[in-house]
Amino acid sequence: MELALSLILLMLSRTTGALPGHFWHLTDLHLDPNYTASSNPLQVCPSAGSQPVPNAGKWGDYLCDSPWILINSSVYAMKNILPDPDFILWTGDDTPHVADEKLGEDAVLSIVEKLTTLIKEVFPDTKVYPALGNHDFHPKNQLPAANNSIYRKITQLWGPWLNVASIAPFERGAFYSEQLVNKTQGGRVIVLNTNLYYKNNDQTTNMDDPGGQFKWLEEELTSAANKGEKVYIVGHIPPGMFEKKRSTPWFREHFNKRYVDIIQKHHGVIAAQFFGHHHTDTFRMIHNSAGSPISALFIAPGVTPWKTTLPGVQNGANNPGIRVFDYDRNTLQVKDMVTYYLNLTYSNLAAPRWEKEYRLTEAFKVPDGSTKSMQTVLDKIATDKCYLQKYYEYNSVRYDLVDCDMNCRADHVCAIREVDFTKYESCIIQESSSTSLTVQLPLLIFLLTCFFTFL
Ligand SMILES: *[C@@H]1O[C@H](CO)[C@@H](O)[C@H](O)[C@H]1NC(C)=O
Ligand SMILES: *[C@@H]1O[C@H](CO)[C@@H](O)[C@H](O)[C@H]1NC(C)=O
Ligand SMILES: *[C@@H]1O[C@H](CO)[C@@H](O)[C@H](O)[C@H]1NC(C)=O
Ligand SMILES: *[C@@H]1O[C@H](CO)[C@@H](O)[C@H](O)[C@H]1NC(C)=O
Ligand SMILES: *[C@@H]1O[C@H](CO)[C@@H](O)[C@H](O)[C@H]1NC(C)=O
Ligand SMILES: [Zn+2]
Ligand SMILES: [Zn+2]
Repeated sequence: MELALSLILLMLSRTTGALPGHFWHLTDLHLDPNYTASSNPLQVCPSAGSQPVPNAGKWGDYLCDSPWILINSSVYAMKNILPDPDFILWTGDDTPHVADEKLGEDAVLSIVEKLTTLIKEVFPDTKVYPALGNHDFHPKNQLPAANNSIYRKITQLWGPWLNVASIAPFERGAFYSEQLVNKTQGGRVIVLNTNLYYKNNDQTTNMDDPGGQFKWLEEELTSAANKGEKVYIVGHIPPGMFEKKRSTPWFREHFNKRYVDIIQKHHGVIAAQFFGHHHTDTFRMIHNSAGSPISALFIAPGVTPWKTTLPGVQNGANNPGIRVFDYDRNTLQVKDMVTYYLNLTYSNLAAPRWEKEYRLTEAFKVPDGSTKSMQTVLDKIATDKCYLQKYYEYNSVRYDLVDCDMNCRADHVCAIREVDFTKYESCIIQESSSTSLTVQLPLLIFLLTCFFTFL
């Protein structure tokens, strides 16, 4: 009797113990303030560089950064879909891909301000955790590891969102750590300035630990462990490799190593990691030295549809995407992830329409977004051609629907599996030489298999 009662109590506490909450992840808005749907292909947008932009539509173009109405539409779409999230992660890159001379410090700050104002207007009562992107500085990418006027001015803009205690750290290095409040107890968000680790950042070239951020991160994670907190790590540029171009990292190698070391040492308190910068939808797994998965890192698609000019990337545009996470307010475990998108072609032909693209647990048939489940998703992508293709279409938010071939498979699978540069290269060698049977099946059989798997 007593046993039965305690069992029931246990079950009750288990069910009431999981407190479902939701938050938004918004990234890479990249406003092009001069976008106009001009009939002159050379006058549509500065962010297309010298490329002509024929038939530009009102809502934007794959060769351009976002027009204002696209950004406005994305933030209002968030409000429509989930008006009262627990909080919003906003991981930066606000300005257009144009030469520094076309922007300048004032233009960068006024764009950051414009987007900040929009988000505040649409979500006046929501806590926002903003991070700086490599484009949120003048000159671009050159974010210093010290107090400067741009950090100070952005601290002013974001002051209403930040805790008082985050003001000084933000001025000094644009990173901070805050306890999640109100709906979530025992949780912490650590926002990093990983632009300090970017290989294109000349300000931090010869530094071991720019701004002391690594040391600080370790202290924050140790203190979180002592307090029994769980942590989300948030930033703009992720560690590891770009999945759309072979052997293309963002971090300098020693910074990448140190980052992975810290995750390996402290993974017990890290519930998940959230980054942007790629504009694509992908994820990364970090393993311990024995090769077991210990942390999942989610990379959210951008709002800008801009086709990357990085040499060697094929078809590198995307449809605008926004993303909701379902999480457990007690443990911070990611329960699910729903990505919404705007088919830009359709919007320009008819009317703007934000629709659900996919739900993680439905699309990949996993129970949740835990580290273990994300490893399962990776295993499915790596071994099943249908899951690979599905993942590939989501990667560009359904812009690029071509077949993901053997090379494409190696690039994506290895980027997801190995954040360490050396292990990534070994993975590429291994995956490029292995011939998988399913990949050699005729297209018809492939299509039929996928058809039956997904209906
Ligand atoms: C922003 O979007 C809202 C909701 O769709 C709309 O009412 C408003 O007119 C838009 N503003 C601009 C400047 O596009
Ligand atoms: C937008 O146009 C103005 C006026 O021509 C120009 O000064 C500015 O540099 C342009 N901005 C961008 C981002 O191209
Ligand atoms: C938390 O709740 C208090 C009291 O209702 C409110 O004043 C505060 O703005 C809330 N904070 C956040 C970050 O939502
Ligand atoms: C940053 O520098 C400004 C100007 O020198 C100074 O007023 C401010 O106190 C400094 N902030 C921090 C956190 O040290
Ligand atoms: C986007 O819309 C265009 C135009 O309606 C359509 O041809 C295309 O198939 C759509 N893309 C997707 C992924 O639904
Ligand atoms: Zn970007
Ligand atoms: Zn970026």
